[in-house]
Amino acid sequence: MRKLSTRRRHPLAGLVVLLTGLVVAGGLYAAFAPKPATAEAITSRDVEAGRQLFVIGCASCHGVNAEGIPTTRGNVYGPSLVGVGAAAVDFQVGTGRMPMAQTAPQAPKKEVEYNPEEVRQLAAFVASLAPGPAIPGDEYTDIDKASIADIREGGEIFRTNCTACHNSVGAGGAMPGGKYAPDIRDVTPVHLAEAMITGPQQMPVFSDEVITPEDKRNVIAYVKKLNSDPGYGGIGGGSLGPVVDGMFTWIIGIGGLAGFAIWIGAHGARVKKR
Ligand code: HEC
Ligand code: HEC
Repeated sequence: MRKLSTRRRHPLAGLVVLLTGLVVAGGLYAAFAPKPATAEAITSRDVEAGRQLFVIGCASCHGVNAEGIPTTRGNVYGPSLVGVGAAAVDFQVGTGRMPMAQTAPQAPKKEVEYNPEEVRQLAAFVASLAPGPAIPGDEYTDIDKASIADIREGGEIFRTNCTACHNSVGAGGAMPGGKYAPDIRDVTPVHLAEAMITGPQQMPVFSDEVITPEDKRNVIAYVKKLNSDPGYGGIGGGSLGPVVDGMFTWIIGIGGLAGFAIWIGAHGARVKKR
């Protein structure tokens, strides 16, 4: 310990700390950064491999040909997937929503059960049934290309189209019928784009005519910016909004004042005189 604290004063110590920090941060980034989507050609082998995975893992609810299975009550075990496209499969399986474990108002996110290769094959199989949206490429997800103005534009679009359900900072919120709009701050760019393109559950579909690919990229850049914002002073309170601020003011602020008043009452000059 002694040794460390003397070395800490070495003129180069600061530099060493800085460099170590940079290397660690760089390594972490490389390890966790989403890999660029490589437009690998889909082969009939992929489709066949996907079909086999599908029969085992998905057909019990969606049917062997993904045509959907109606229940006797008139709803479905699983809806038809004909025409939902590779994007929907990549989103649903890639976020762990599918395969759904049990019936619930909404398929929750969970541990992803298939490796990226298998997800690609499942997507290839479903995409082979009928045309549908493909897995979005760089034009949607390359957020490093977004300028400050683009991000601001993305913020506009986000506030107009998304905050009603996902809250102004993307923290999510409850919806009727035990459903909810999830927190989207940790979602990868590809899954963000896929959610907009496919509109899972109660979420509307934002087609490329409504929000262009470039604007989708700007929205994603904005959401990712929100995510990395340092916060501007004060206590975030989990970004839950004014309720937390109010609670904080109430309990700490008013509570503190009340406590102080009591203290004055107990220690004031008059008390001492007595
Ligand atoms: C236990 C039943 C069940 C299983 C197993 C299951 N699903 Fe689903 N799936 C559902 C239900 C119910 C929905 C609709 C509810 C929802 O979207 O949350 C759905 C929705 C989907 C959607 C979204 C469709 C759309 O319109 O966007 C896709 C894609 C999908 N499933 C793919 C799969 C794949 C691929 C598998 C296998 C890996 C799978 N599912 C396994 C029940 C199931
Ligand atoms: C009407 C309410 C509503 C609006 C408006 C809406 N969403 Fe959603 N969103 C939802 C719901 C509900 C889900 C959850 C679907 C599910 O779990 O199957 C969701 C899911 C998502 C997800 C997936 C999150 C995850 O955890 O995997 C993303 C990303 C997303 N939305 C982004 C957006 C963006 C961006 C916009 C605006 C362009 C938007 N949403 C507008 C209701 C909404």
